[in-house]
Amino acid sequence: MKKIIIAIDGYSSCGKSTLAKALAKKLHYLFLDSGAMYRAITYYFIEHKVNTNQLTEVEKALKNIQLSFQFNKETADNHILLNGINVDKEIRSMAINAKVSEVAAIAEVRKFAVAQQQQIGLNKGIVMDGRDIGTTVFPNAELKIFVTADTTVRVERRFKELYASNPNITIEDVKANLEMRDYIDTNRTESPLRKADDAKLLDNTNLNKEEQLNIAYQWAMEKI
Ligand code: C5P
Repeated sequence: MKKIIIAIDGYSSCGKSTLAKALAKKLHYLFLDSGAMYRAITYYFIEHKVNTNQLTEVEKALKNIQLSFQFNKETADNHILLNGINVDKEIRSMAINAKVSEVAAIAEVRKFAVAQQQQIGLNKGIVMDGRDIGTTVFPNAELKIFVTADTTVRVERRFKELYASNPNITIEDVKANLEMRDYIDTNRTESPLRKADDAKLLDNTNLNKEEQLNIAYQWAMEKI
């Protein structure tokens, strides 16, 4: 079977990573959540008090960042390591949510992350999700999917997920953060979030995980 690149993009909390991982598992492909890379960089910037308005500080910090992954072929789980340390949990906090889109809008940060994403996808056989995968990282990806869902549904899904580890969180906090990230991601100068012209649209407002996976799998099989 031919190996292809599958790019899944869309707004925050649309279930892109869940779909990408399930699809990778079903196809025995590698899965990469590119958002985790921007989150890990943001975590480093916060921990090291990097002034993101100072380009020299940003460049210096990036030189000290090494991102690596631990991929489990059976489950398609992909753990992210920042300088050798697993930061899966740390990068999912509201503090990271509040800052990540600002960091991801910095050209040098994007260059750093995109180069690594392209390297990881060199051998194809990969499902990668993010905001610019089908437009910038892999403009020639054989299959591009753009995921959307109603804001209310996205907020409820993300709230349930975050509430489990942080009972102080409110639905208003989650909604404000999603809207802010979508706004910054869509309006930034460097590879803004947009649907690639040749991407297939998947509105999952009324679809469960299995239904989404079946649709995406069928699209993939048409290309493989
Ligand atoms: O996908 P996730 O919500 O974890 O991504 C966190 C943030 O990282 C996004 O809001 C966006 O600002 C940034 N991002 C990006 N490009 C990607 C993936 C994520 O700018 N390919």
